[in-house]
Amino acid sequence: MDEPIVCRCEEVTLSQVIQAIDEGYDTLEELKRHLRVGMGPCQGRTCLPLLARILAERARRPLPEVMEEVSIRPPLAPAPVLLFLEGQDED
Ligand code: FES
Repeated sequence: MDEPIVCRCEEVTLSQVIQAIDEGYDTLEELKRHLRVGMGPCQGRTCLPLLARILAERARRPLPEVMEEVSIRPPLAPAPVLLFLEGQDED
C-alpha cells in the first residue's frame, strides 16, 4: 500500500479521512466515531494531531478551534494487584 496512513493503529488512510470530511464528518469526534481514528492502542497520541491538521486545512477552520472538539483521555497505566491489597486486614 503506497497511500499515506493517518492512523497506523486502525490502518486509516489519508484518502479515507478526506472522503469522510467531504461526506460531512466535519468534527474530530465524528471522524473518530466514523473511522475509528484515535481509538487504537496508542489512543490517538500520534494520529489525532495529524487528523486535526488535515480537518482544519480541508474544512478551512482554525486549528485551535478544531482541537477543542476532541476529548483526550490519558492512557491508563497497569497497576499490580498487590498494590491494592497492601495494608488490608486478612479477615
Ligand atoms: S495511530 Fe491512531 S490510534 Fe494509534
